[in-house]
Amino acid sequence: MSKENGKKILITGGCGFIGSNMAAHYLAKGWEVVTYDNYSRPGSKKNATWLEKSAISLQQSNGIGHLRQVRGDVRDLESLQEAMAGVDVVAHMAAQVAVTTSVEDPMEDFLINALGGINILQAARSCGSDPIVLYASTNKVYGGMEHLRVGASTLRYHFIDYPEGIDEDFPIDLHSPYGCSKGACDLYMIDHARIYGLRTVVFRQSCIYGPRQFGIEDQGWVAHFVISAVLGRPLTIYGDGKQVRDVLHVRDLLEAFDLAIDNIKVCAGNAYNLGGGPGNAISLLELIYRLEPELDKAIPLTFEEWRPGDQRVYISDVRKAERDMGWTPRTSIGTGLKDLCEWVKANKELFDVKGIEVKQRKMEHLQPSNV
Ligand SMILES: NC(=O)c1ccc[n+]([C@@H]2O[C@H](COP(=O)([O-])OP(=O)(O)OC[C@H]3O[C@@H](n4cnc5c(N)ncnc54)[C@H](O)[C@@H]3O)[C@@H](O)[C@H]2O)c1
Repeated sequence: MSKENGKKILITGGCGFIGSNMAAHYLAKGWEVVTYDNYSRPGSKKNATWLEKSAISLQQSNGIGHLRQVRGDVRDLESLQEAMAGVDVVAHMAAQVAVTTSVEDPMEDFLINALGGINILQAARSCGSDPIVLYASTNKVYGGMEHLRVGASTLRYHFIDYPEGIDEDFPIDLHSPYGCSKGACDLYMIDHARIYGLRTVVFRQSCIYGPRQFGIEDQGWVAHFVISAVLGRPLTIYGDGKQVRDVLHVRDLLEAFDLAIDNIKVCAGNAYNLGGGPGNAISLLELIYRLEPELDKAIPLTFEEWRPGDQRVYISDVRKAERDMGWTPRTSIGTGLKDLCEWVKANKELFDVKGIEVKQRKMEHLQPSNV
């Protein structure tokens, strides 16, 4: 066992979609992994079980796979401090993730995302091992962008003045309680590098997709479309379906986390827009038209009114990440979608969860997130 082996990472939200992929990635590299999750997201317990099995199989095959799973809440500073003992890297993935829920309960959203974020920073400063802190922020920090000129073609919208997408100098404009709470944490992260010398890196993520994503109507739309199509569930499109997002396979996101750690001297204190970029931008309709041949079935659609706040286009300009850490998105939409479809088809039983459907119905009347 080499010791890249021997490095230790704490992943808050480690049983969520991105967190569980990340935990598996670092386990396979021989790191000691601590997941820290309150299992509030439907699907997170299933991810926890999958991680346990993955760790056991790694232990049996080559003696790595050192996993500890802590049930904890990021609002609880003391428990975070305990879990953070001796870590080299903290990846802060835990969050209240839906705009819809934040509108229903802004206080809860604030406590999880803003207070939870500063708890992470407090614990990182006091834990004694000076960990690198990676934070999963969101493109939502740039707000509604209503003033940008947008053109339209048959199947999609596009930015007229931003062919390379939105870069990190675009003005921050926090919309919705979710935007405010995630944005507050984003700025605290950057400022803690400035004021306390903490090695923080902020990733302003666009739409991330891939295996282990329990997408629902208001969060994780690519997985939601694939799961609905595979299981033959009705699919509703709000608006005309020409809305465009740049999608990024989770595998590419993990590569960015690795590169930021490797290049921490350059990356510390910086924010990076991470998405598929202009080359991996796709509209809702285009996704449907790609899925139909992939799954070899017609996907019936219902159209409803636009939901308030839904952006016509968001595309990340990813060139800063390329300059600073040599990162570019590498997984094409075709390859990534095939991968997600295979996972959903092979794991249909995972989606037979009442909780996911109930949560979805409860939120149907509220505005969407763009994640
Ligand atoms: N998936 C995307 O497209 C996307 C886009 C932009 C930003 N993000 C951000 O990336 C991060 C991970 O997103 P994801 O898609 O994996 O979401 P997810 O919902 O799958 O995972 C979040 C995890 O955090 C846990 N959690 C929630 N509240 C908690 C709390 N109070 N204490 C401890 N754990 C808690 C949940 O149980 C869940 O396992 C989030 O911070 C999200 O805001 C995601």
